[in-house]
This record gives sequence, structure tokens and C-alpha cells, in this order.
Amino acid sequence: MSGRANAPKLCVALDRESRESNLALVRLLKSHSAHLWLKVGLRSFVRDGKEFLEDLRRIGDFRLFLDLKLYDIPNTMLDTMREIHALGVDMLTIHASSGAQAMRALARYREANPTAPRILAVTALTSFGQEDFGQIYNTPILNHARNMAVLAYESGCDGVVCSCFETQSIKAATSKSFIALTPGIRPFGEESSDQKRVADLALAKRVGSDFIVVGRPIYRAQDPRGVVERILEIL
Ligand code: C5P
Repeated sequence: MSGRANAPKLCVALDRESRESNLALVRLLKSHSAHLWLKVGLRSFVRDGKEFLEDLRRIGDFRLFLDLKLYDIPNTMLDTMREIHALGVDMLTIHASSGAQAMRALARYREANPTAPRILAVTALTSFGQEDFGQIYNTPILNHARNMAVLAYESGCDGVVCSCFETQSIKAATSKSFIALTPGIRPFGEESSDQKRVADLALAKRVGSDFIVVGRPIYRAQDPRGVVERILEIL
């Protein structure tokens, strides 16, 4: 492992078809727990709930990231953040398009509660290409992602979720220390599946990603631990 202080951190997405298969993957990664984040997304959380987070904690000393991408009215988002805080996770996601008022409410809550999870705002899903994005927003992805990031920054969020193709522009428009978490990573050029704005490890490092999210290239591999070890070595 490079051990550079600013090296991107690896988040493993636990999107497998059952609780047991996710837990089997996590057990395989136990010896690397101090260097890994686990991303619990909609599928796992809807199915396995908060007990699943307890299961993960029992296996190892992983950091936990709850990726539910909240999008609702400010009051509902804030109440939900309080509930998520009680779960003891380290990071959560919301949609930046939920607006400044909602983001500010959550950021104020975090300021008043130092143990609350970090707040990352999704700018534009990495599964969007320009064409399908344009159907909804009628603007280039890069502009939209940067505008959403500036709004999230000014509203007090800790960072954003974006693709590697927007990371440099977002950091330039906000701050180097504003977190960029990049999904859509295909570490060694693996199949992109439904992701459109994919990047490999070299690009993620070059643009200054703070966190990379990798799901299928790890959990669909013959040797998931081997893939994680290769990634950790390169980061
Ligand atoms: O399997 P793959 O590596 O494509 O998984 C990416 C993960 O990151 C999925 O859990 C997906 O929900 C999540 N994600 C994403 N794009 C975003 C935010 C989260 O792909 N903008």
C-alpha cells in the first residue's frame, strides 16, 4: 500500500444478492478492515436493515458508509439524518438537487453534533451519459455537476459524489479539501455494465479522488480479496 496521506480510500460496495453473500465477502476482507470502507446501499439496507450494520461491525474494524441518497423535503431529510446518526455510520449521501435549504439543515446538524456522519451530496449519477442526462436536465453534465458541487460546498456539506471526469473542475471551483467520492471505478479496465462515466485507478488517482467506490469488479471476481489487495497496493 502506498500509505500516502492523501491516497484515495477504497469503499467496497456491498450490493450482493443476499445478506449472507455480502457477509461472506466482508469476512474475506477482514484482515484489511483497517484500510477499508464498506458501502451499504439501498438494496442491502432495505433488505437487511440496521442489524446488518451490526453484523459488519462484529466482523472487523471497517468504516461504514450508508449510501441511501436522500432526496426529500428539508424537514424529512433532517429527521432522517438524526436516525442515521443513531446508527453510528461514518458517512451518508443525499442528493444535492434536494436544494440548499435541506443541505444547510443537515450541515448545521452535523456542526452541532461532531459524531454525526459526514455528508456527501450526489451531483450526477455515474450511470448517466450526456444523452440521458440531457433528457432530464438539458445541460452538460460537467456544468451541472460543478454547479451542484458549489451549492453543496456553500451549504456546508463535507463533499460530493461525482465521476472522475468532474473531480478536478469541482475541486477547482470549491476547495482541494472538499471531498470527492467517485463511483464508476473499473480499477483495471473491467466491464462497465450500467455505468457510463467510468474511470480506472490511474485516472482516479490523477484527478485527486478522495474515495473510490468499487462494487462489481470486486464481488464478481473469482478472487475478490486478490482484487482488493491489488487495488490497495496501487492506491
Ligand atoms: O458495481 P459498481 O462498482 O458499479 O457499484 C457502484 C456503486 O456506487 C453502486 O452501489 C451504486 O449504487 C453507487 N453509486 C454510483 N453512482 C453514484 C452514487 C453511487 O454508482 N453517483
